[in-house]
Order: sequence, then C-alpha cells, then structure tokens
Amino acid sequence: MAKLAVNVDHIATLREARKINYPDPVTAAMAAETAGADGIVVHLREDRRHIQERDVRILRQMVQTKLILEMASTPEMLGIALNIKPNIITLVPEKRSELTTEGGLDIITHFNNIKESVKHIQNGGIKVSIFIDPNLDQIKHAHKMGADMIEIHTGAFCDALTEEMQEKEFARIVDAVKIASKLKLGVNAGHGLGYHSIKRFKGLSEIDEFSIGHSIVARATISGMEQAVRDMAALIKAL
Ligand code: PXP
Repeated sequence: MAKLAVNVDHIATLREARKINYPDPVTAAMAAETAGADGIVVHLREDRRHIQERDVRILRQMVQTKLILEMASTPEMLGIALNIKPNIITLVPEKRSELTTEGGLDIITHFNNIKESVKHIQNGGIKVSIFIDPNLDQIKHAHKMGADMIEIHTGAFCDALTEEMQEKEFARIVDAVKIASKLKLGVNAGHGLGYHSIKRFKGLSEIDEFSIGHSIVARATISGMEQAVRDMAALIKAL
C-alpha cells in the first residue's frame, strides 16, 4: 500500500506572511502524524521564504515517522542537512523567481555535481531521493549515480487541461514508474496532486509514497474555517 508524506511548507508560508510565531509548521506536522501521515516533508529554500532552519531542527526532534528534507544541491544546504540529519533528502532544482518547484532536476546535464552530492549525503548516513520528470533517460541516470530512490514529478499530469493531455502525461508516469522499479530504485511521486487527481493512481502499485502539500493545506484551511469562526464568535458573545 502506498504511503503519504505530508508537506507542511504552506503552514510556514502563512506564518511568514505576518513574520510572527504562528501557525507553526511543527504543530501542523504533529497533527498530520496523528492523522496517519507516514512522513513529514519540508523544503528549506535558499531564500527562506517559508521553512526556516529552526523548523527543520525542531522537526528533527519531534517527528516520529520520518523527516524528508527537500533542498537544492548546494554547499550551504549540504552543510545544514548533514548537521540536522533528516531521514531522507530529496534533491530538487531551485530558482529564486519560481512560485514553487517548476520541474524535475536535470541530472543528465548536472550529472557530476549531483552524483557527488548523492555520495556525500549517503556517506553521512542519509538516504537520497532525486526529484525528476517522468523521463526514462533521467531515471537511468538516477540509477547510474546510485540514488536510493526517485520522486517522479507529477505536475504536468496534474496541470494538463484536457483528458487527452492528462492521459498522455499519465502514460509517461506509468512508463517512468515501471522502469524505475525494474532498476530497483525506490519510487515516490508528487507535485500538484489533489483529491481528484490522486484517484488516477489506483493500481500503480510500484509507487511507494506520495508527497502532497498544497491540496491538503488548502483543504485544512477551508474545512477548519467554520470551527475557527465559531470559536471566535463564542468568545465575542461572551465579552
Ligand atoms: N514534491 C516536491 C519535490 C515538491 O517540491 C513539492 C512542492 O513543495 C511537492 C512534492 C508537493 O507539491 P504540492 O504542494 O503541489 O502537493
């Protein structure tokens, strides 16, 4: 059965909008674990726009399932990660101007740099996943550089506007999953997955884990709205 890793970056996005100390992504991570999450994911970005180093350090102490740190393959991030020691590091591409991760890491172009990072991380006792597009050459290179697992970028499938495009993108994901599994790579998937698109993955049993953030945090804010208003209205009525 596939597992669910919950990304809590957006809780930190809300906190950083006010630059105060709530909502806290650590509290959200604890709630996610209580509800059955199999892992907690955070992306420590170079510009620290949401998750802060402090969050990752506290999560390392608090998370009871597994902590997955998404990060760029840079000397700064490698230093922080090897010190904090999450259970898994997912290497992702990163551009300052992007709203979110826009595509998989091109590990063919950056083969030597990424391979060196993979070895460095593994020597520190941490497993490495690489976020890549559902492209067979990229997957073969992930295997060649000794990654433990890959995370297949599902964004193009989730963003496809027509059924025809969706099916074309989903076929790419299926091919990618099958080849990765044949190469004995662990296979995860994520980006853009929501409460409808996840249903398409029924039967694709080679996927070990889905990494999902935006849709879960979005649903939490809406489904929690009534209770939040009720609580405040009750306090005002009691004034
Ligand atoms: N996987 C990776 C590598 C990501 O960068 C993200 C977004 O932070 C996700 C999964 C989760 O994507 P979403 O927030 O769209 O569910």
